[in-house]
Amino acid sequence: MTFVSSRPRIAVLGAGIIGLSAAYELAMRRGARVTLHDVRAPGRGASWAAAGMLAPAFEAAAEPGVHPQLFDLCLASAALWPAFAQDLSARAGEPVGFDRTPSLAAALDAREMARLSQIAGTLSSAGIDHLVLGADAICELEPAISRAVLGGLELPTDLRVHNRRTVSALLTVLRASANVDFVSGPALLKSEAGRVSLDGHDAMLAAAGWETSIIKVKERGELYSLTNWDAALDDIDCHGGQMLSVAATAGAPQRVVRSGHVYLVPRGGQVVIGATVEPDRVIEVPEAGVIEALRREGVRLCPGLANAPVAESWAGVRPGTPDQAPFIGETVTPGLFVAAGHYRNGILLAPVTAQIIADALLGAPQGELAATFTTRRAYGATA
Ligand code: GLY
Repeated sequence: MTFVSSRPRIAVLGAGIIGLSAAYELAMRRGARVTLHDVRAPGRGASWAAAGMLAPAFEAAAEPGVHPQLFDLCLASAALWPAFAQDLSARAGEPVGFDRTPSLAAALDAREMARLSQIAGTLSSAGIDHLVLGADAICELEPAISRAVLGGLELPTDLRVHNRRTVSALLTVLRASANVDFVSGPALLKSEAGRVSLDGHDAMLAAAGWETSIIKVKERGELYSLTNWDAALDDIDCHGGQMLSVAATAGAPQRVVRSGHVYLVPRGGQVVIGATVEPDRVIEVPEAGVIEALRREGVRLCPGLANAPVAESWAGVRPGTPDQAPFIGETVTPGLFVAAGHYRNGILLAPVTAQIIADALLGAPQGELAATFTTRRAYGATA
């Protein structure tokens, strides 16, 4: 892009971890000026609801039907996390709870053993470090795991961060920056001659998660959805999730432990237990029966939590694309960029997304990997 000034002004629409990380990269590392718009409280959507797992091996290696390079993107972002966490903590003056202890994946039945063996196969072919564990070995590493375990994996790529502290640290740094302005409410986008613009800005980044498609643009006095300027944005769907946390009583796991769709994440004196995946659902209030079922599944994996009091329960919405990979890059409308649709990997993918989108916005050379995540890619659109 060509900018009218040497210090471009970028509007970021959406102040979740993706929008905040993009603003951080642009304003703190690349010297751009950023206006962050959100219609809700910044950082309190999917980024707040998440558990904070950084799990390329378990999440990306296991899924069929996904973008063929999602695993590479996840690994690239996992490699950026240590420096991202260190830089952010130093600037914010507060730790973000980045923990390098490898996660464990446990199998409580033969079906899960088969799944873990498939993940191990994918990791071996990609040359990714992992350890196949028998029942005794996994219990030795994490005594909180049920004695009914059949075996499992230790995943040195799969770490964790305190996602809520990360979001708070990003907000602390960005609010103190002279390069960043926060605007509460929608951005007044307008369209003339097929181009979208926002007064006073050189480019716009749509980063509002599952709500990206409903951002509005004014044309000839009428409001239209942003999807009219890139139809792919209409393919970002919502996948509700419910979860809870319990007090980290004696018998709580010390590291991330997962089995099937259930995961337990130690976080700030509690253990987060997640999560349901409920396509096409925006759940405002967690449902008691669902939360209790999830708690029981967590207890099946770590029986010592049977009497741990429930601390909190909540629901969130994951923004998912048909190939489960995010849209990152310039849309088909010049000057309008997108970083949204990160599905189950928003926290993990924040640092790499921030770098790719900053390169795209500022006209820096793009790597091959980056180019494969634009809205122009081929994917099976939903009906
Ligand atoms: N990243 C885990 C989840 O979305 O539940």
